[in-house]
Amino acid sequence: MNAIKIRDGIYWVGVIDWSMRSFHGYDTQRGSTYNAYLIIDDKITLIDTVKHGFEEEMLSRISSVIEPSKIDYIISNHVEPDHSFGVPLISSLAPNAKVVTSAPNGLKGLRAYYGELPYETVKAGDTLSIGKRTLAFVPTPMLHWPDSMVTYCPEEKILFSNDAFGQHLASGKRYDDDNDLSIVIEEAKKYYANILFLYAKQAQTALKEVHKLDIEMIATGHGIIWRSHIPEIIDLYNKWSLGETEDRAVVVFDSMWHSTEKMAHTIAEAFIDKGFSVGYYDIQKNTHADIMTDVLTSRYLAVGSPTLNNQMLPTIAGFLCYMKGLAPKGRKAFAFGSYGWGGQSIQQIEDELKAGGCEIVMDKVRMLYVPSAEQLAGLRDQILAL
Ligand code: FEO
Repeated sequence: MNAIKIRDGIYWVGVIDWSMRSFHGYDTQRGSTYNAYLIIDDKITLIDTVKHGFEEEMLSRISSVIEPSKIDYIISNHVEPDHSFGVPLISSLAPNAKVVTSAPNGLKGLRAYYGELPYETVKAGDTLSIGKRTLAFVPTPMLHWPDSMVTYCPEEKILFSNDAFGQHLASGKRYDDDNDLSIVIEEAKKYYANILFLYAKQAQTALKEVHKLDIEMIATGHGIIWRSHIPEIIDLYNKWSLGETEDRAVVVFDSMWHSTEKMAHTIAEAFIDKGFSVGYYDIQKNTHADIMTDVLTSRYLAVGSPTLNNQMLPTIAGFLCYMKGLAPKGRKAFAFGSYGWGGQSIQQIEDELKAGGCEIVMDKVRMLYVPSAEQLAGLRDQILAL
């Protein structure tokens, strides 16, 4: 396995995980990469490592450039083990290497996972001279763990951004401009929606710091490296974290005997007639991660379920649990569903939408057994009047 040179003296020594299909519940149909970077300077520096099972592959890429025992610094931007699992291995092979992590949370996390190593902690504003180059550390707490930070090299104008600006995208090509940009952006959006959505305020704070930097390359922790479309991805992060939405409605439903489905269909058609685009998601046929990717930039969210044993269907409950965690604040939302007697599901959905930070813009839509043509026409009028 060879390292890939990204600048004179700087190499990608990460791995491509072609087969990964789930990242704790977020479906990753295009796999991922765990990116690590090796800087050859007076002090040999490794920035981040890889996930469990891929350490030897990373090691072989490092060994194609330099004897791993010569590493002086291992920068751990983020404790989550998809980036840090290789730290103890490299530390054992390079006994003089310092493991550089954020204080106090990086230290706390790495100790919990890997025990005592030769740690050196850094905080906002700290820099490390490694020879011709300097590394500056910028904490990005809760983006998306308390320990998270990014590392900037001013001489190279490279931001080693770890999770930020990343994508779960396995590709043999390393840069934004040699991949299909629409796919890269789609996966960056999916990543933001499913990993960072909840942390919009922290993302805004981090973006203010990023704007102060002169950046020619964003070397991410996942997926491709940005070098030609940096303003675009920063602008998208700004829009996503500000909660900017489009004239688009997401309709999510499950159905038992097609009655709630008829309501979902009427809602979707009404939004189309209103001039909106629509994401229409039968929960049986779509993943939570894809739906939340659409919710990120959609103004409306309609969620429907019939009532089963006094509850909403478990499929919709699962989706709402996932949605509530990501907290799509300010999305205009409402609940709908058919019922036979109790009809509790619709109130339950509304409660979950509110708990996720949505603004309820229409009273619960409940229809007994089978919606009539008149009821559906009334529902359509309600949507058109929104
Ligand atoms: Fe890619 Fe938060 O780990």
